[in-house]
Amino acid sequence: MTRILGISGSLRRDSHNTCLLRAAAEAAGPDVQFALYEGLKEVPPYDGDDDVYPRAASVARLNEAIANADAVLFATPEYNASIPGQLKNAIDWVSRPVATNMLRNKPVAVVGASTGAFGAAWAQAELRKVLAALGARVLDVELPVPHAHTRFEEGELIDEDIRAGLADALEALAEEVRRRKGVKAVA
Ligand SMILES: Cc1cc2nc3c(=O)[nH]c(=O)nc-3n(C[C@H](O)[C@H](O)[C@H](O)COP(=O)(O)O)c2cc1C
Repeated sequence: MTRILGISGSLRRDSHNTCLLRAAAEAAGPDVQFALYEGLKEVPPYDGDDDVYPRAASVARLNEAIANADAVLFATPEYNASIPGQLKNAIDWVSRPVATNMLRNKPVAVVGASTGAFGAAWAQAELRKVLAALGARVLDVELPVPHAHTRFEEGELIDEDIRAGLADALEALAEEVRRRKGVKAVA
């Protein structure tokens, strides 16, 4: 069983990126346990003076959720050609202490939705760069979801190509986790 944590970079209730992760949960195979992280809004702004132990409960919960997952699937919107501040802020918390941060060596993949024509492609590239700087094992996966407002009906994904892309991203993560554990896929 591969435990995959989904982290959406959007706080919006009707976020297309959060809907994308909900669709990923449905697309996950029987050997994947998918959990959606819902606490991003509670993570306070990073302040070195507050980075003391025990850490704020919201920060501790985020670290624990990542620690308990075999892999993480991020879905990010694009805000002004980059990733939203709240997502970067949360990753900044996770990045400390650098040498032992919970994303180090963790298999991660990035997908993203935007209402524009490029499907948050720049934001996805930025997020991969940030995650690589933390030492995460960033998979060579990209799933741009352009014109995101046309891909969902009442929060349900209605695009089968994107559903297949999500399944591929999850399988790539599960395969990387199996490879690391030295486990062969069951045919
Ligand atoms: C502050 C802000 C900046 C944005 N900048 C971009 C952008 O650079 N590129 C883009 O494609 N969409 C941009 N958008 C539109 C978002 O892609 C769109 O709002 C998307 O639905 C946000 O994701 P969500 O539905 O998961 O909340 C921006 C939206 C906001 C609120």
